[in-house]
Amino acid sequence: MDLFIQEEDVDVYLLGSGLHSFLDITFFTRHILINKCKNVFCLHDLPSFEHYLTKVGVPYTNLMPLYYKDGRDRSSIYNDIVNHVINCGLQLKENRPVGLILHGHPLVFSAISERLIQKCKEHNFKLKIVPAVSALDRIFVDLQIDIGKNGIQIFSAASVIDKTVIPNPKVRMLLFQIQGATNHLALRNAPPITRDAKEIKDTLLAYYPANHLISIVESAIDLGFASKIIEVELNSLELAYEHFNYNASLYIPAYL
Ligand SMILES: C[S@@+](CC[C@H](N)C(=O)[O-])C[C@H]1O[C@@H](n2cnc3c(N)ncnc32)[C@H](O)[C@@H]1O
Repeated sequence: MDLFIQEEDVDVYLLGSGLHSFLDITFFTRHILINKCKNVFCLHDLPSFEHYLTKVGVPYTNLMPLYYKDGRDRSSIYNDIVNHVINCGLQLKENRPVGLILHGHPLVFSAISERLIQKCKEHNFKLKIVPAVSALDRIFVDLQIDIGKNGIQIFSAASVIDKTVIPNPKVRMLLFQIQGATNHLALRNAPPITRDAKEIKDTLLAYYPANHLISIVESAIDLGFASKIIEVELNSLELAYEHFNYNASLYIPAYL
């Protein structure tokens, strides 16, 4: 018996793998990958996740090594990825449904997803987006916080630096995309530099005292690894720049 509602005429599935390798993948997403998609594209640099796809019998193409080249403008990488998925669906009707599976939740901080939604509209493709476990879910667990208590602010580091948004220090805050906050390039393999940490620190010092304790949080993404929480005083954030990477966020408790 098929336990899932039939989705007959979907052209594109936008999916999320969850955060911790394949451990977070939902039954529904797994079902779509195995039984529905004619073509699957992923964007991952976790061999354990690719191994899982192979093991459950899902042929896939990882677009990460194809397009994510260091030094390229991130925005044009996103366009290339979206075009690749859409072109696959356009070439032959039999290629559809096409599935794109991203790390985490597909609609949490994903410019690729925004553009895919737009392109699907332009081409009259029926799009189905399926929720998944996000870095947010794992971060709440790792920090042992319940966001229902007094709420939380979640922003990209860049939008705080350029003052598109103004933090309220009385409400705790999570900053996403701390690595690369001050440039537009893909630099996944480059060593971290101090500039992102310095800009974030200088910006936050306008709202919080220098000795405010904040944490760089990197929730575990691969098998055999534990989550990392590095607590520092705001004033020393630059000294912790080596902990900045594309899988790290910054947690700033409320200053009451
Ligand atoms: C392009 S966004 C994608 C987020 C993803 N869609 C999700 O649902 O988690 C990448 C940002 O998510 C956050 N992130 C991703 N993995 C993380 C992890 N393992 N621990 C903490 N933050 C993470 C970081 O702020 C990173 O810069």
